[in-house]
Amino acid sequence: MPKSVLITGCSAGGIGFSLAKSFQNRGVTVFATARDLSKMSGLEKLPNIVLLPLDVTSPSSIADVVEAVKAKTGGKLDYLVNNSGRQYVMPALDADIEEGKRMFDVNFWGVLRMIQAFSELLVESKGTIVNIGSIAAYLHSPYSSMSADNQFRSRVLTDPGIYNASKAALHMFDETLRIELAPLGVEVLTIVTGSIETAILTNGPQPKVSPSSHYYSLEKDIKERAKGNDGYKRMKADEFAEGVVGDVLRGATGKVWRGENATATRIASVLMPMPVMDRVLLNGTRLENPKS
Ligand SMILES: NC(=O)c1ccc[n+]([C@@H]2O[C@H](COP(=O)([O-])OP(=O)(O)OC[C@H]3O[C@@H](n4cnc5c(N)ncnc54)[C@H](OP(=O)(O)O)[C@@H]3O)[C@@H](O)[C@H]2O)c1
Repeated sequence: MPKSVLITGCSAGGIGFSLAKSFQNRGVTVFATARDLSKMSGLEKLPNIVLLPLDVTSPSSIADVVEAVKAKTGGKLDYLVNNSGRQYVMPALDADIEEGKRMFDVNFWGVLRMIQAFSELLVESKGTIVNIGSIAAYLHSPYSSMSADNQFRSRVLTDPGIYNASKAALHMFDETLRIELAPLGVEVLTIVTGSIETAILTNGPQPKVSPSSHYYSLEKDIKERAKGNDGYKRMKADEFAEGVVGDVLRGATGKVWRGENATATRIASVLMPMPVMDRVLLNGTRLENPKS
């Protein structure tokens, strides 16, 4: 019987969509899921792909998908890929906490909901949980933007600190999960994902910086960052997915670093002292404080 994988968040143009194609291409039966089935229409003609609607914040939606997978596989699942995610670009002082909670509900609690719901199917097949983490968990990457002449205009620690926190929480959670699930024969793999060419930034809420904000003088830069105009090089999602699927199928566990800037972040996170890293990330940014 072919191996089976369920992937969350497979909307076209994103990492999940590329992962679905890559797993399918290697003979794995794919349950590709998204909140909106029409966003996966590019997958429907491929053999051995089942498209299912799934919102990882909805227990009833998750329960429906568990039943659909059980019916097809006889109660087993070899790989669960928790890929769904949201972004939120706002300075911490100006962030809307309710928006941050909605993001955490997908990036962190959604992962746990899926793991709990699929645990018996994974135990049955001695399967693997693959969580799509981020270099943001290590880099505490700042908001940054480049001007048209490709010079950094400004950088300040106003990147989505809440997003970084959601991914750091996921990474730490995986460390314990790996140990708790080992006696059950279920493996855990965290993909420390670098910069990938997708629309995650523009898919998130676009920031409005109030004139009373300390960061108002950087509003233009913050808005550009939230559109993905930050000058970072990014890896194509298909290339990233090929690497990740190779890792999963060879039985990798623990952490794997993949994507643009992943290796550099890995090295910097070990070798660069925190004050130096902070200076690099802040990059001399000065605020024109309207209140002062
Ligand atoms: N792109 C990068 O540079 C990068 C770097 C590090 C980590 N990552 C991580 O990679 C993963 C995939 O992101 P991406 O870059 O491919 O972005 P993306 O294209 O925006 O994909 C995100 C996916 O998550 C789905 N999603 C959002 N809320 C959901 C919910 N409540 N239930 C189910 N699915 C939901 C989205 O569905 P809708 O289309 O319906 O919104 C979409 O399919 C995320 O976990 C992200 O944090 C990305």
